[in-house]
Amino acid sequence: MAMSDSFLRACRLEPVDSTPVWFMRQAGRYMPEYRAIREKHSLLEICEQPALAAEITLQPIRRLGVDAAILFADILLPAVPLGVGLEFAKGEGPRLPHPVRSMEDVERLRTVNPEADLANVMETIRILRTQLGSTPLIGFCGAPFTVASYLIEGQGSRDFLLTKKMMYSMPDAWHALMAKLATLLAAYLQAQIRAGAQAVQLFDSWVGALSPRDYVEYVQPYSRTVLQAAGALDVPVIHFGTGTASLLPAMKSAGGTVMGLDWRVPVAEGWKMVGYDVGLQGNLDPAVLFAPLPEIKRRVKDILNQAEGRPGHVFNLGHGILPNTPVDHVRAVVDMVHEYSSVGAAVS
Ligand code: CP3
Repeated sequence: MAMSDSFLRACRLEPVDSTPVWFMRQAGRYMPEYRAIREKHSLLEICEQPALAAEITLQPIRRLGVDAAILFADILLPAVPLGVGLEFAKGEGPRLPHPVRSMEDVERLRTVNPEADLANVMETIRILRTQLGSTPLIGFCGAPFTVASYLIEGQGSRDFLLTKKMMYSMPDAWHALMAKLATLLAAYLQAQIRAGAQAVQLFDSWVGALSPRDYVEYVQPYSRTVLQAAGALDVPVIHFGTGTASLLPAMKSAGGTVMGLDWRVPVAEGWKMVGYDVGLQGNLDPAVLFAPLPEIKRRVKDILNQAEGRPGHVFNLGHGILPNTPVDHVRAVVDMVHEYSSVGAAVS
């Protein structure tokens, strides 16, 4: 296990001995020990059984030497107590059987009390804090927009047409839905922090589908509610999205002590855009992990060079680890980041 406090220090913009690194989706199908558990249990079964979810959270900590653990759960778990339902069809991604398409559907959503209705998640966190030692634990939830898109579409989407249709043609229903989600997700993150999460990440994975103007009008106030609620409990808050090149200033204004960057924007540019008063997480293209090691090395060095050893850099991918990623390449990146960023190391 990593004995390092570098992740929390970097999140607070404090100097570190070497750049901390963790990976979105660091637990998952690319790992044989994950697949072994998945042969016997569905994803939802794992999320509902704290001992199993905790075990899977620990797998990448043991194998990779990363500087932080991320709770094993899914951003769509709240769909179950909301009454929308959730299934993961084999190889097809999430399906939500009772999607939200009208004001009546929004009004029918149940009121969720995360402490009680997502009690298994809190129990997983409590178990993990007894097992993780000095490795910090990151809690997370989906951002209101990204969660709303699944509730409305009933599945993943390319164009988010039903989502935008509600936004543009039923603004009252949209705002009522987003207000409900903001309240729920704010309480959910606070419950995770009270259970022991030492940092949290808000995943707005699909927010890049929006123009800056629509983001500000339809999304920003609700993300702000969630980010502020988490920040009020004095833990680092990472605000992540993909396809965000034109949204970064507005996302920064919504909140977050560390901004998560995908690989489409170079670190130097992205950090300049959000300002040096926040940390910067990212942003190796997950596909680079399939390249030969010398190429990976070149890309890792480039990111570290662009971060210039500035306090506040948390190394990560620009999005989650893909299935079939070679595990030894992931491990190699952890070592490269630590080695090349060590105080005194010359990065060329
Ligand atoms: O290691 C970790 O990062 C923690 C666990 C985690 C999962 N999902 C487990 C999971 C986290 C942080 C998530 C977040 C999540 N879930 C997001 C936001 C991050 C992102 O990738 O953009 C989204 C959009 C989801 C919704 C979701 N869950 C989808 C679209 C899918 C199917 C696609 C896929 O990758 O299979 C899932 C399933 C899911 N959630 C898996 C895992 C490990 C794959 C499960 C399996 O079949 O074993």
